[in-house]
Amino acid sequence: MLVSNLIRRVGTVWAAVIAVCTCVPVPCPQDTCMLPNSKDNPRDNQCRDLDVYIKCMKSLSKKCRGDIGYHSAVTVSNSEFKKLCTSHDDFSRNNSSEHSQMAQSTHNGPSCPLLFDDKKEHRFCGLFGDPHLRTFDGKYQTCRIHGAWQVIENPFFGIMVTNEAIVNSTTATAPTKLTVILKAHKPECTLQKMYEAQGDFQLPSVFEDGSTSSGPAISPTVSLSWRSNDPNSETVIIRLSYISTIITVTRVGKYLSISAKLPDQLTQLFNQDKNVLCSTGCPHSEQINIKQVAINELDRALTSCHNSVGPTGHKLTDQYLDWCVFDMMISHDEQFINASHAAYSDVLFFEPRSLFNRTISIFEYNPNSTAGANGIHRLNLFILTIITLYNFL
Ligand SMILES: *[C@@H]1O[C@H](CO)[C@@H](O)[C@H](O)[C@H]1NC(C)=O
Ligand SMILES: *[C@@H]1O[C@H](CO)[C@@H](O)[C@H](O)[C@H]1NC(C)=O
Ligand SMILES: *[C@@H]1O[C@H](CO)[C@@H](O)[C@H](O)[C@H]1NC(C)=O
Ligand SMILES: *[C@@H]1O[C@H](CO)[C@@H](O)[C@H](O)[C@H]1NC(C)=O
Ligand SMILES: *[C@@H]1O[C@H](CO)[C@@H](O)[C@H](O)[C@H]1NC(C)=O
Ligand SMILES: *[C@@H]1O[C@H](CO)[C@@H](O)[C@H](O)[C@H]1NC(C)=O
Repeated sequence: MLVSNLIRRVGTVWAAVIAVCTCVPVPCPQDTCMLPNSKDNPRDNQCRDLDVYIKCMKSLSKKCRGDIGYHSAVTVSNSEFKKLCTSHDDFSRNNSSEHSQMAQSTHNGPSCPLLFDDKKEHRFCGLFGDPHLRTFDGKYQTCRIHGAWQVIENPFFGIMVTNEAIVNSTTATAPTKLTVILKAHKPECTLQKMYEAQGDFQLPSVFEDGSTSSGPAISPTVSLSWRSNDPNSETVIIRLSYISTIITVTRVGKYLSISAKLPDQLTQLFNQDKNVLCSTGCPHSEQINIKQVAINELDRALTSCHNSVGPTGHKLTDQYLDWCVFDMMISHDEQFINASHAAYSDVLFFEPRSLFNRTISIFEYNPNSTAGANGIHRLNLFILTIITLYNFL
């Protein structure tokens, strides 16, 4: 086919020009990408090979930044891909959206405008566990909210959660289904995309249309990637660069959690009639006062939560510690400890300054808690004293 010859010729010419001009070989290893041999190859395979080639080339984008031969080859293969493959139904259903946009973007088409400044004020919201909510305006709540609820809703995306009763508990529920819907916004920013996670299954590594991104490969407007695919605690990150937003979806055991950080302007309530958990908090009737829980194997819960260490080596503090103890007393399900750590990692990642680093849980002031808890209490006081002395001296 012509395309291979064309790309090779462009490459050779530029290689020659560069060799003559600079005498220093430019370290762009574009030969490591195999240009598909398209002779008597069915179109499906051609598209697949071309796709592999384009991805391989994209992976070199940093090293080859100044290499015009490389950029010509990428442009030619993108437009070839668009011509040959995106009209093909099977393929386009699977993989085309990202490529047709990629191809457009290398063609001086309109590019997606950045709508919010990364440096302006952002707000953080998270939901996990029994469910525990940290709202955009910094309220901490524990809620019943059985069934389907809106977590975030704005003109660009929406997040829905479904909470189900926890086994062996009459009142407690936990998130078992999460849906993130990206609303279509200018073809160059994103088409409509949906991401759906269910507690009973591993997190999907793609959006429902099979894609993992939108926009140019070098600076995608939407991208989905793993932060951790440890089967004990897997996290997917969805970045929406055009609106300066990051969403993480985590699955620990069969429970899900979600965190998001977005520009202040997108955190207001856009529909006054609705309850949107991150903006309005849980309705009063759905809130639970965790201090009024029936104390049940408190020492065991305290010990497990205090002794647990998260994937980043941190111990739980603040509300995350209280919530861990509460969940352990309610459910005795150790997965909730890991869920607390996953949520804590999100806070450390998104909003560490919101933490006060309190290491004594509210339950430790309960007069009924016995030796173990008091031991920990004393140890904490001891450490606090040392820190105070250290600062004083
Ligand atoms: C779609 O893309 C994925 C990931 O790049 C690839 O593994 C898969 O084979 C592609 N689908 C088809 C039908 O070519
Ligand atoms: C629920 O209770 C049953 C019977 O008491 C017990 O066998 C089971 O392990 C409990 N499940 C969980 C998740 O605690
Ligand atoms: C891609 O398309 C093929 C054939 O149409 C289908 O079998 C496969 O499940 C699709 N893959 C994804 C990720 O949608
Ligand atoms: C919690 O996480 C740790 C470390 O990742 C793992 O060893 C443990 O099995 C997990 N516990 C549960 C109940 O999933
Ligand atoms: C608590 O710890 C976090 C992370 O180490 C830190 O960013 C934050 O400033 C600390 N908060 C206080 C009140 O010291
Ligand atoms: C403390 O224990 C006593 C007796 O065991 C019980 O009656 C009381 O309700 C407990 N108090 C709390 C706050 O759990």
